[in-house]
Amino acid sequence: MAHLTGEERATYVQDMFGRIARRYNLMNRLMTFGQDMRWRRFVVKQAQLPAGGKLLDLATGTGDIAFEALRNTPDAQIVGADFSLPMMYVGQHLKNGRRVGWVGADALKLPFPDNTFDAVTSGYLVRNVIDIPQTLKEQLRVLKPGGRIVILDSSPPKDSLLKPFILMHLKYVIPLLGRIIVGTEGADAYSYLPSSTQAFKTPEDLAANMHNAGIEQVQWKLFMFGTMAVHWGIKPQ
Ligand SMILES: C[S@@+](CC[C@H](N)C(=O)[O-])C[C@H]1O[C@@H](n2cnc3c(N)ncnc32)[C@H](O)[C@@H]1O
Repeated sequence: MAHLTGEERATYVQDMFGRIARRYNLMNRLMTFGQDMRWRRFVVKQAQLPAGGKLLDLATGTGDIAFEALRNTPDAQIVGADFSLPMMYVGQHLKNGRRVGWVGADALKLPFPDNTFDAVTSGYLVRNVIDIPQTLKEQLRVLKPGGRIVILDSSPPKDSLLKPFILMHLKYVIPLLGRIIVGTEGADAYSYLPSSTQAFKTPEDLAANMHNAGIEQVQWKLFMFGTMAVHWGIKPQ
């Protein structure tokens, strides 16, 4: 996987999420000791969706952020978009699955008009996407002026006393859990996750990408010993 680039990499990622879809939520809860929902709540809080507002949750997968947004703002209109239909199929069959508008879409070419949404969220998209400036450009395009972009992704561990333990969790515990819970058909996904996390941008670099894309007031907060980052910013008026 590490050697793949461009369209080949995108196809691999799309296929991989299709293979792990059924066990995806369980793996998340186990790998993060149940902490992942806390970060998603923070993402939704930072989106500052107004009552009756319209949210796009991009790379929605099984819809965890979309469902959290519904809990937080029950009268909002929530659209979940992803290029993995099997992931969204799992989400559609969960409680409140019918209250999310599921859309098959590539984050690099969104099928929505300009200035449509009050906020755009994404969880673990940016690390997987083959063109970060292009997805940021598309997210800005569909966002209303003054609206917020909020990005959750993993972050490469910084040097610290905890780093050896974090690397052990990433390199050994997560792939082993993947083999046990998902089986051989999706085991590659849980080796890909640690390697793509270690190779991913630092929080400072991602913030610079957002700033260069034209997003203003970019800020971020780290979670889980600095291995998870939530970035947010505003589309200029
Ligand atoms: C790790 S899952 C995250 C799902 C969900 N956001 C969450 O927080 O659990 C990453 C998702 O990104 C989607 N994805 C990756 N690249 C994409 C792209 N170019 N366009 C649309 N979805 C993409 C995958 O299909 C997958 O469902």
